[in-house]
Amino acid sequence: MTVMIYGCTGYMGTMVSEAMAQHPQLSQLCVLSGRSTTKVRNLATRLSLPWCSFKLSDSLIDHYLKDIKVVLNMAGPYIETTEPLIMSCIRTHTDYLDISKEQQSLQLLFQSLSAQIQSANIIAIPGLGFDSVATDCLAALLRHHLPTATHLNLSFAFSNIADGIPVSRGIWKTNVRNMFSAADMNLACVEGAIQEVPLFYKSRTVTFPNAGKALVATAGGANCYIASRSTHIENIDTFIPIDVNIMRLILFLWRVFAFLLRWIPLMHWFILHVMDYSLTKGPTEYQRKGKRIDVWGEVRDAQQGKVIRGSIQVMEAYGFAQQAAIQGVLRIISDRHISPGVWTPSQAFGPEFVLSIPGTVAYTFVKFEHNQQTAKSSVSSTASATTTASKLAAQSIPPLLHGSH
Ligand SMILES: NC(=O)c1ccc[n+]([C@@H]2O[C@H](COP(=O)([O-])OP(=O)(O)OC[C@H]3O[C@@H](n4cnc5c(N)ncnc54)[C@H](OP(=O)(O)O)[C@@H]3O)[C@@H](O)[C@H]2O)c1
Repeated sequence: MTVMIYGCTGYMGTMVSEAMAQHPQLSQLCVLSGRSTTKVRNLATRLSLPWCSFKLSDSLIDHYLKDIKVVLNMAGPYIETTEPLIMSCIRTHTDYLDISKEQQSLQLLFQSLSAQIQSANIIAIPGLGFDSVATDCLAALLRHHLPTATHLNLSFAFSNIADGIPVSRGIWKTNVRNMFSAADMNLACVEGAIQEVPLFYKSRTVTFPNAGKALVATAGGANCYIASRSTHIENIDTFIPIDVNIMRLILFLWRVFAFLLRWIPLMHWFILHVMDYSLTKGPTEYQRKGKRIDVWGEVRDAQQGKVIRGSIQVMEAYGFAQQAAIQGVLRIISDRHISPGVWTPSQAFGPEFVLSIPGTVAYTFVKFEHNQQTAKSSVSSTASATTTASKLAAQSIPPLLHGSH
């Protein structure tokens, strides 16, 4: 049984390869791979791991995958890498994992290729990174406590103002790629349908456990898409903290930049190449050390006027994604109960999967319900949910599926 890391030479690929090389079980099973022979060989030599190199357009791609049990795809933007790799996985009956946060690659797996993946008898689990494991599992836990939920809101914030760290080159490149293809600007689930909606089209106030009270506005794609697959809640919005003036400026710059990318030929290609030379790969270990993120969620049953809010705290996004990917590989090689098909992380490994990622803290969830005095209140919109919930009777509930551990 062998585990292949494809795209081992990138920022995240290298982080995962280093962790695999130190892992007692996975170091015996792991093969490093990527498109650049020199880069892959140098890394594999440093980590004393076996390796191979091939491009995704290589006609012999199936040859490299034929003895592999599971491929962990760390090569992004995923819009370029998911399709050739999953097609080879289908032909060679190889399980597929990735850390994608891109709507188009998620759609390809969950919608276009779902039947083929199932008939090939393989498992595909995309989104095993910070976006989406943290929000996906929190959403599934909240949904478990309120199965009749009609609305879901999700958000995250740095636990401390000083916990912000530089964004990796891979994420910048993914954003440019998304702007060029007009995808992922902002997704929402409205009455059961995933839709592209304007960036920052809704805002509200959220109280994070460590970051405190913050104004948040809608932005994001993968989190919404994955949470919708996992929970089937009909109305979902995902938010990020933002200052109103900065929000207007970002919105303006985003539109100008997206326009230039789409209408000036080869502009996006040029920018992607400039990024390779001008940006560092990602935050250093020192920059990441001790940094943490608050993840917050709220489910609401608009008919019954019930609201449940819950939070978890996780380590910074890159360390979290590294650990989530490693845990995902470990589970897939040891758990024989996952059925063939395409699954979100919480569907495959359960909503408590996030709690198995080192450093994750779950706070007590709070349930708000009508009492005698507030029986006439009704919860009908996101804005009113905030005020209404504060008038309802609050009750603490353990966040876990079956009470406390
Ligand atoms: N969900 C999360 O929490 C999370 C966190 C971080 C990153 N990500 C995503 O993970 C991906 C990687 O991020 P990163 O920061 O590691 O990026 P990166 O440093 O730019 O590395 C990208 C890797 O992909 C390879 N690659 C790119 N295009 C390829 C292609 N067409 N064919 C084969 N290999 C290709 C690169 O190979 P070369 O070295 O040969 O160029 C490199 O190994 C991005 O899509 C990013 O959005 C997700």
